[in-house]
Amino acid sequence: MVARVIPVDPFDLVIFGGTGDLARRKILPALCRRFADGQMPEGSRIIGAARAALDTDGFRQMIRKALDEFLGEDAPDADSQSRFVDALSYVKVDAASDDGWADLRGALREDVVRAFYFSVGPSLFGPIAAQLGAFNLVTPETRIVVEKPFGHDLETARALNQTLAAHFDETQIYRIDHYLGKETVQNLMAVRFANILFEPLWNSRFVDHVQITVAESVGVGGRGPYYDKSGAMRDMVQNHLMQLLCLIAMEPPHCFEPDAVRDEKLKVINALDPVSAGEAVRGQYTAGPNSASYLTEVETPDSLTESYVALKVGISNWRWKGTPFYLRTGKRLRSRSSEIAITFRDPPHSIFGEGAPWRANVLVIRLQPDEGMTLRVMIKEPGPGGMRLKDVALDMSFADALGEDMHIPDAYERLIMDVIRGNQTLFMRGDEVEAAWAWTDPIIDGWRKAADKPSEYDPFSSGPEDALMLMHRDGRKWREIR
Ligand code: BG6
Repeated sequence: MVARVIPVDPFDLVIFGGTGDLARRKILPALCRRFADGQMPEGSRIIGAARAALDTDGFRQMIRKALDEFLGEDAPDADSQSRFVDALSYVKVDAASDDGWADLRGALREDVVRAFYFSVGPSLFGPIAAQLGAFNLVTPETRIVVEKPFGHDLETARALNQTLAAHFDETQIYRIDHYLGKETVQNLMAVRFANILFEPLWNSRFVDHVQITVAESVGVGGRGPYYDKSGAMRDMVQNHLMQLLCLIAMEPPHCFEPDAVRDEKLKVINALDPVSAGEAVRGQYTAGPNSASYLTEVETPDSLTESYVALKVGISNWRWKGTPFYLRTGKRLRSRSSEIAITFRDPPHSIFGEGAPWRANVLVIRLQPDEGMTLRVMIKEPGPGGMRLKDVALDMSFADALGEDMHIPDAYERLIMDVIRGNQTLFMRGDEVEAAWAWTDPIIDGWRKAADKPSEYDPFSSGPEDALMLMHRDGRKWREIR
C-alpha cells in the first residue's frame, strides 16, 4: 500500500541536537522516508545544529552511517538516501553562548515555514528559546518542536511553559508525545468515532473495566542516569499512558481539529480521581541468569526509583463513574506488548440457565507488536448435546486486513510532517501537560515521603505480586502479557 502523500511547500527544518542519539536514530531516518515518498518538496532544507566542530560534509557522513544503521529492513533505495543526505547541511551553534546564531540566521529563509526541533536535554529548552528570540529567528511561520520530558513535575512544566510563552504563541509550540504519532494509537479514534458499533456501549453501564498495558522487555540499559531520576511514572504514565487513557475515555470531539480534540482530553485528565501513593503499585526488576538487576543497571544500589507501575484509576464523570481503568507499564517484562482491553459487563439475564459457562465480551486493541483488534464473543459450540456455549475470538490483524506490503510508518514520520503542515492535533497543549503532572505529582511525592522500597519482580515476568493483588481485590485478573 502506497502512503498517501499530502503536499507541503518547501520548508526549513533546524534540528538542535542534530548529532545526538534521537536525531540519528529516529528523526533523520523518519525524514529520509518522507523524502523518499516524495513528501519533502525540492528546495526544503534540513539543517543540523549542534556544538560539535563539524562541517556539512562531516555531518552528512555521520547521518549516512546513521541511516545505514537505523533505517531497518524496508529502507528507501540507495539513490533516495543519497539525495536526502545531499539536502542536509550543518551549522555549529552553542545554545549557551552567542556562538553560531548569526550563521544560523544566515542559513534560513524568511518566507517559508521554519521549524526548530529541540532534540536536546530539557535544560537547553529555555536557553535555545531565548536565543531564537534574541537573534530574531522567530517569524510568524515559525514552529518549535519540544521533546519529552516536558518538565519533571508540575512546577517545572509550568516554568517551561512560561519560558516558551515569552517567545512563542501556543499555536507555534509542538510538544511531542510519540505515542500519539503511532498509527494504532490514532486508530483508537477511528475505531471509536468512525463506527456506530462501539460508542453506544462505551460507558460504565456496559463496560466493566478497562486495562491499559504498555510492557517492554528491555531494561533501562544505557539510559540509567536519566531513567533513575524519572522512573516509570514520569517516563511513561504521565505522558504515554495518560494519552491512551484520554483517547479511550474522552467524549467525541465535535470535529477532528486540534483544540476540539485537546479540550476533550483535558476534561478527562481533570476528571481523574486522585490515587494515593499507597494504592499505586511500583516495582523494580531483579537480576536474572542473563540480565542485570535494575539497581546494577542504574549503578545506584539504594535507588528507590520504580521500573514498573500499576494503578487503578477512576474517572468521576457521567460516562465513566463506576468503571475502573487499570494501567500498568514496566521494563524487563515478559515481552514487548502494548494493548488496551475493554471488558464488557455480563448480559443482565441468561436464558441458558445458571450453569452456562460465561465469559465476558472483551474488545482488545493491540498497539504493538502485531497491531490489530480482537473481539471475544460467545457462540454455540457446534454439535448435539444441548446449548453449549463457548467464547471465541473475532480476530483481525491489520497487516492481514490491509495487505502484506502495508508499511506502518514510524510515529516520527507522521508527527514531523504534521509540524510542517501546521497541524497540532497529535501534540499536547500546555494545559494538558500541566494537568497530567498535577495528577501524577501527589503520587510521586507520596512515594518520596514514604521512602519505602519498590516491590521486586523477576525479569521477563509479568511484574510484581502486588500488581496481581490490585486486580484480585476487585475480583478481576490482568490479561496475560504474552
Ligand atoms: C519513551 C520512554 O518515551 O518511550 C522509553 O522514554 C520507552 O523509556 C519508550 O522505552 C517506549 O516507546 P515505544 O515506541 O518503543 O513503545
